[in-house]
Amino acid sequence: MRSKYIITTFGCQMNEHDSEKIAGMLEDLGYNETEEREDADIIILNTCSVRDNADQRFFGNLGYLKNLKKKNSELIVAVCGCMMQQEHIVEKIKKSYPFVDIVFGTHNLHELPQMLVKAQDTHKISVNVWDDGGEIIEHTPVKRKFQSKSLVNIMYGCNNFCSYCIVPYTRGRERSRNPKDIIAEVNELALNGTKEITLLGQNVNSYGKTLDNPYDFSDLLVDLNEIEGLERIRFMTSHPKDLSDKLIETMAKCSRVCDSIHLPIQSGSTRILKEMNRKYTREDYLEIINKIRKAIPHITISTDFIVGFPGETKEDFEETISLVKEVRYDNAFTFIYSPRKGTPAEHYEDLVDDKTKHEWFNELVKTLNNISYEKNKAYEGSIHKVLVEDVSKNNEERLSGRTESSKLVNFEGTPDLIGKIVTVKITEGKTFSLDGELLDGDYIK
Ligand code: SAH
Ligand code: SF4
Ligand code: F3S
Repeated sequence: MRSKYIITTFGCQMNEHDSEKIAGMLEDLGYNETEEREDADIIILNTCSVRDNADQRFFGNLGYLKNLKKKNSELIVAVCGCMMQQEHIVEKIKKSYPFVDIVFGTHNLHELPQMLVKAQDTHKISVNVWDDGGEIIEHTPVKRKFQSKSLVNIMYGCNNFCSYCIVPYTRGRERSRNPKDIIAEVNELALNGTKEITLLGQNVNSYGKTLDNPYDFSDLLVDLNEIEGLERIRFMTSHPKDLSDKLIETMAKCSRVCDSIHLPIQSGSTRILKEMNRKYTREDYLEIINKIRKAIPHITISTDFIVGFPGETKEDFEETISLVKEVRYDNAFTFIYSPRKGTPAEHYEDLVDDKTKHEWFNELVKTLNNISYEKNKAYEGSIHKVLVEDVSKNNEERLSGRTESSKLVNFEGTPDLIGKIVTVKITEGKTFSLDGELLDGDYIK
């Protein structure tokens, strides 16, 4: 019988894609995926240092794995991802969770096979975390979660050092993949049935800066836009400070680049943005939004906010609310500020108390949701191409997919349509999704 693996992934799409690479390597070694931890021979936790009480959730999970390991001493427990790039976390694992077999970081995923052999031979904890990414490793096998839509790394790391953010420390310095490698990967994906790609980078707008020849993100979009069979190109994340006029023009003219952009603002107050080291003002940001909307009128815009940054006052928060009302986002991710060890903001004073942070958070979410609802209502009666992703989470008789503008649509249909682009009429706009009905007619296989 073949050995089995299970991966739990926390955090962003960068981590999701890393997990697809880990799965690819394990399948190459002859492992099969299982849905149950109790059934697995190797359990991997791919961690995040930013989201959802990351530390607590991770150590909670490890506590549970300790019991499994007691029942099955041959079980291999491996932990990886952004948290492993933080020294104090690795120290804590060694001290309090010594049953962990393998610890690796974000820069040396490709070493998992060797580490696995070593762990199986020695039954001793093996820790291998690189401080920074060296050369970019190409041709790692990938087991993709979806066939019709794929994540593609175009760059790694980040040089921006926003004062609250751990990512430059967990993902290292910014480095771009060679365009030839990216284009070859996307060509192959398109040949194998991928219709939609999402290009991944912490700041895609600075793509190309580490390349030998001048070539930027817009050039990459133009080249990828030529690929036959590919229908949709998305990307994340765009940093407002590097969003050029050239990129806006390119988005407008490339038919396969989706009319949707994620443009994190973090705060509507210029004073707080400065404290966050974001390198743009509220006015700069609003000007970019105006330019984008002028060039691509129907574009959907989403963003990220942090509420309760040290020193944030009621007036600063009100500026965030007024900015939300001015921009009218389609969608947003909202985070309550929490200090990250090793970041400049860790020691900032004048902390906002928990009660205020939660009140502001709730008010912001309410304001955002009201606008999302109004925007989604305006979709009622309109007709859209929808890439069918899966059966609906809440009702297996229904399908779910996304419009080009990235709106989630649920509608009745049969699973044979998964992976196809179909035509759907929107019947109801809700806060977080749209309901629709499938129209007869063409679809793209
Ligand atoms: N590179 C992307 C985002 C990376 S992290 C960008 O620059 O937009 C994703 C989001 O997590 C950030 O946009 C921010 O809103 C949030 N975040 C990061 N560090 C945080 C912290 N210490 N507290 C709360 N939210 C944080
Ligand atoms: Fe973090 Fe800022 Fe880099 Fe985004 S741009 S990953 S928020 S440091
Ligand atoms: Fe992503 Fe979390 Fe790392 S948001 S880059 S997995 S810290």
